[in-house]
Amino acid sequence: MTWTEELATSENRHVQQMLRDTGRMPRHVAIIMDGNGRWAQERGRPRIDGHREGMESVRAVVKTSSQLGIKYLTLYAFSIENWKRPLPEVRFLMSLLESYLRKEVDELHANGVRIRTIGKTNALPKSVQRVLKESIDRTAENEGLTLTLALSYGARWDILRAVQVLAMDVRRGKVSPEDLTEETISDYLQTSFMPDPDLIIRTSGEIRLSNFLLWEAAYAELYVTEDLWPDFRSPDLYRALTDYVMRERRFGKISAQVRSDHSATTMSTLERILNALT
Ligand code: FPP
Repeated sequence: MTWTEELATSENRHVQQMLRDTGRMPRHVAIIMDGNGRWAQERGRPRIDGHREGMESVRAVVKTSSQLGIKYLTLYAFSIENWKRPLPEVRFLMSLLESYLRKEVDELHANGVRIRTIGKTNALPKSVQRVLKESIDRTAENEGLTLTLALSYGARWDILRAVQVLAMDVRRGKVSPEDLTEETISDYLQTSFMPDPDLIIRTSGEIRLSNFLLWEAAYAELYVTEDLWPDFRSPDLYRALTDYVMRERRFGKISAQVRSDHSATTMSTLERILNALT
């Protein structure tokens, strides 16, 4: 049974329909998955247990995003700074990533998910690079959810890399400095294939971006929840999305100029969403 078929019988259908009916769903959701270690420590268990349980949240959120028709989901799975963690933890995270892809790629493919990565992926172990390449190639033509894994990723690393390539193109005469625009910069970033994130979710209560999508996040709505990542499941995603659809995105304009965008959304529908969630 595909994820969409499954939905026909599930209680999630109602709330997903209501969210879609607002006509204001984000095209791109990006998530800073934080709090795995604390989740484990709170239970007197090793940190890796938190990562293992966090993997279940990844599964839930990918499936729900796909069912909701969200086009882009980007997960901050391993930052460029995470290499500084104790080696056993780094090794465990790499093996978790590898087994996730090996086990799940069939199901992801069957559900139209396209897998991509951003980050310094040539720093990953060779076996991980291999399975990533296989998964990316296999799902390249899919047109459903684009699931981007940020791996060995840092926004400043990507910006620096982009500036270096751009500077070389200027030197070769391919680009002239007077013609540079914001779009040029976006085109040189590894994220050029995706729209900017509309909504960035961060778990575990920390209110910062931690070197995630710094250029791309210029107009993103930020949603921070106290939930630790292993506790973040589909209802929590619905809550974040409900919060998002109720916000007014002004992009520098004044409220009266964007008011008409709201006509599709009635407060009663939104109230029903919230009631369905509780
Ligand atoms: C942050 O929690 C989480 C990470 C550094 C890794 C996130 C990885 C997973 C959820 C599993 C692998 C993901 C994929 C997509 C295959 P933390 O360890 O920083 O928690 P803490 O702040 O409580 O210590």
